[in-house]
Amino acid sequence: MGVTLFRRGSQTDAEAERQAELSAEDLRVLLEIERGQRLLLEGAYESTVVALARALESKDSGTGAHSERVRQYALGLADAVAPELLGDTSAEHGFLLHDVGKIGIPDSVLRKPGPLDPDERRLMETHTLVGERMLSDVMLLHGAGLKVVRSHHERWDGRGYPDRLAGDEIPVGARVFAVADTLDALTNDRPYRAAGSWKDARELIVSEASQQFDPEVVEAFREREQALRSLQREFAGNAALN
Ligand SMILES: [Fe+2]
Repeated sequence: MGVTLFRRGSQTDAEAERQAELSAEDLRVLLEIERGQRLLLEGAYESTVVALARALESKDSGTGAHSERVRQYALGLADAVAPELLGDTSAEHGFLLHDVGKIGIPDSVLRKPGPLDPDERRLMETHTLVGERMLSDVMLLHGAGLKVVRSHHERWDGRGYPDRLAGDEIPVGARVFAVADTLDALTNDRPYRAAGSWKDARELIVSEASQQFDPEVVEAFREREQALRSLQREFAGNAALN
């Protein structure tokens, strides 16, 4: 009787062990499939974001590879002052899509080869809020990404838009991005002026510490300037090859 019970117990234990092994294997396979599907989805999403950024650039003439360059500059600066943004794909997509709201701005304003009048300027400034609204249903942009889109024209001294935030009230991703965006704007052609030199851009950025820009981000720019310059040359080299 005791032996029979022991045998029964052994068989049950062995069976349970096999089941557990099978379950572990099944779980591993399921996790692999899930991981593969997630990577596919992320790849598709990334391609869509890049395509959208490029579509915008074809409308906002003269900006070339602006979105891609500012993404790289912003990541370089974030590495120094806000490393938490580096692992945040929302922030990175926000860097790429920061000006997506310009899709709603008429070409006559967007490509005007001269200074904007007050009405045109007010219209242009709506691109931050329009962009945020356009992307508000995209879950992967929630958080740092949407904050970059809304707040990338705020100024450290509180004279920016759309909310006139000042200092640390401005989301850090937007503070980092503002320097990256200005650096790229100053060193590339715009509809209303030709590209300026890197040296002039550096001087302006440094002189705007604590006014337009977060002084810590400006300090990071000074520290990382050579790496950013190399990135610019790399982009210019690629453009020359294309
Ligand atoms: Fe903008």
